[in-house]
Amino acid sequence: MSKRVVVLTGAGVSAESGLKTFRDHDGLWNNHRVEEVATPGAWAADMELVLEFYNQRRKQLLECEPNPAHRALAELQDKYDVHIITQNVDDLHERAGSRNVLHLHGELKKVRSTIDPAYVVELEGWELKAGDTCPKGGQLRPHIVWFGEPVPNISMAAEIATTAEILLVIGTSMQVYPAAGLIHYAPAEAMKYYIDPEAYENRMVENLKAIREKAGIGVPELVRELMDH
Ligand code: OAD
Repeated sequence: MSKRVVVLTGAGVSAESGLKTFRDHDGLWNNHRVEEVATPGAWAADMELVLEFYNQRRKQLLECEPNPAHRALAELQDKYDVHIITQNVDDLHERAGSRNVLHLHGELKKVRSTIDPAYVVELEGWELKAGDTCPKGGQLRPHIVWFGEPVPNISMAAEIATTAEILLVIGTSMQVYPAAGLIHYAPAEAMKYYIDPEAYENRMVENLKAIREKAGIGVPELVRELMDH
């Protein structure tokens, strides 16, 4: 049986593909704070604004490619049982070839019905418009977990984290809960690597090594090490 590697990724793993992280820039979009756009309240108050925000992000995603960090994680599957838990809504892990990817905060390319939560479909192209509806007539919304909404996949993520023999944490500020708490579910004896230019040692987490590197450099290096091991 191959060893299980659980990988927790955040916006930093996609930064070198050209997608902005949340806390590295001023957090503003057309003079709106991101927190003001990515909420159920914003959707109720100004649906067009929220649609436009995600349309632009979707359009940008179509122009991006996976970077060496995404690709190295896909290569790791040749030797390890790799499970990726991502806070990202992009599909760059999948496009790089990773097979087990659990999205905690939704998926930008998918949309779902506002009256039938089970109706989730992939959007063709990048534009979702007011008046685009599900077969039952409900307006479609981005398939995104907004601030203040529950995170449906968190218990599955916690379960996966408990099975880690090696844990990689890549490109996340570890500030947004419940995702940030996942590191505590990994077994104490599991070796843990935190790759981020701002990575720090956390005395609350055993066997944690901070690698202060960009993902595009640090991840392929670590993957090479793990493949040779
Ligand atoms: P953040 O923007 O909070 O953190 C991005 C992290 O990426 C920081 O720690 C940076 O140091 C790091 N970083 C920047 N460039 C990097 C690079 N080239 N390689 C590696 N790391 C790099 O993003 P997240 O931690 O992902 O939630 O944020 C978590 C959640 O907060 C997001 O999923 C989003 C946001 O609000 C929702 O949308 C619900």
